[in-house]
Amino acid sequence: MRLAILLSGRGSNFAAIHGAIVRGDLDAEIVCVISNRPDAPGIAHARTLGLPAHAVDHRAFDSRAAHEAAVLAILEKEKPDFIALAGYMRLLSPAFIAAYPMRIINIHPSLLPAFPGVDAQGQAIVYGVKLSGCTVHFVDENLDAGPIIVQRAVEVRADDDASTLAARILEEEHAAYVEALVKLASGDYCVDGRRVVFN
Ligand code: GRF
Repeated sequence: MRLAILLSGRGSNFAAIHGAIVRGDLDAEIVCVISNRPDAPGIAHARTLGLPAHAVDHRAFDSRAAHEAAVLAILEKEKPDFIALAGYMRLLSPAFIAAYPMRIINIHPSLLPAFPGVDAQGQAIVYGVKLSGCTVHFVDENLDAGPIIVQRAVEVRADDDASTLAARILEEEHAAYVEALVKLASGDYCVDGRRVVFN
């Protein structure tokens, strides 16, 4: 499986995916890591690992379309089977998504459809849910809304705040992302409406 990673920040999910590949738990090759933020720790990490790393600063472009065209040009060259968003803080246009239907995946730190958007962990604390977690899903044109591949639940404790909950969810994110990619790499699944069915 040829895998492209798009990130904007810390890159711990990217590191977890890379670690799984190195351990032999995931049969994949990271063909490129792209960041819209040149100073993202994740892109620096990709460079130290010797992976093809591209900083495509969105602020250097006049429009979303122009920035996306630059990202798409890299992807067209590297021909990934899947594009994993790993803390990529840019909304993708419908045209971008249409270029890779059911091949762009994202991780979100809640049990979707609860708490889409920013600060999902803080939203969970404020709402008072007793369970939250993370969701790996295909990306469609709606925010945090595409068909669900893997979910993992995390208990919300009485003394949690957004940051302690986020830290425990993040551990599950790392495992869930690898689990989802292993399943996708098997190729043994179909997408039936909203349902991703693994055989
Ligand atoms: C994660 O919480 C992920 O769910 C969200 O952004 C965060 C990225 O963290 N989409 P990292 O950069 O992978 O450490």
